[in-house]
Amino acid sequence: MDRDAQIKMMKQHVGIEAARLVEDGAVVGLGTGSTAVFMIEELGRRVRSEGLRIVGIPTSYDAAVRARSQGIPVRTLDDVERIDIAIDGADEVDPMKCLIKGRGAAHTREKIIDALAKVFVVVVDESKLVDRLGTTCPVPVEVLPMAIAPVMRRLRDLGGTPVLRMGVKKDGPVITDQGNMVVDVTFDEIDDPAGMERTLNNIPGVVENGLFVGVATIILVGQLNMDGAISVRRIE
Ligand code: A5P
Repeated sequence: MDRDAQIKMMKQHVGIEAARLVEDGAVVGLGTGSTAVFMIEELGRRVRSEGLRIVGIPTSYDAAVRARSQGIPVRTLDDVERIDIAIDGADEVDPMKCLIKGRGAAHTREKIIDALAKVFVVVVDESKLVDRLGTTCPVPVEVLPMAIAPVMRRLRDLGGTPVLRMGVKKDGPVITDQGNMVVDVTFDEIDDPAGMERTLNNIPGVVENGLFVGVATIILVGQLNMDGAISVRRIE
């Protein structure tokens, strides 16, 4: 099995394991991304075959479409007073359970919903664990289109290298579910994720950034064992 196939298997294991944590009657934040997809599919299976009664609050149009196709009832934040559990992927996880999210440009809705949840379960494969955030990926920053130029100047002043995210199978920039653009910012080092999260969000024109500090409750890590089997490690 090649590495991509192994990673897919780890994502599948961890997504299914996370879906098993959901209890009957729960309001569930439904994450976005290739790992969260496995969780949504397993929840759908449980709804259809076990009679699990849940309400899903999707973190993106993508999650909403996938949840509906699985028979999971979908609601908005206007319809619920609490979120019992949210399950979502991440691009990087550091030893303090701080995250970078937003490879799929969904980090703004994800942060709202994941932060509201009583329990936020992060589902990742072992390749996402890092000693320091920013090691393997940039920080996505969602920006109002009219503020792109000054925001990019400010990001350079902060020592970052900002790149406007461009579409795939779409000419021009990526447009988020909110109608904004995304700037991916590479920093040499992120020494203080909490401070950087605040600093980025203080730039006029920035809607939200992909640093998630103090939001995650549990990290489930899909890992490949020496014997070739895949297991799920839980970090609290
Ligand atoms: C969506 O914008 C992201 O925050 C994803 O949750 C994150 O990129 C993890 O995605 P994968 O599970 O596809 O790696």
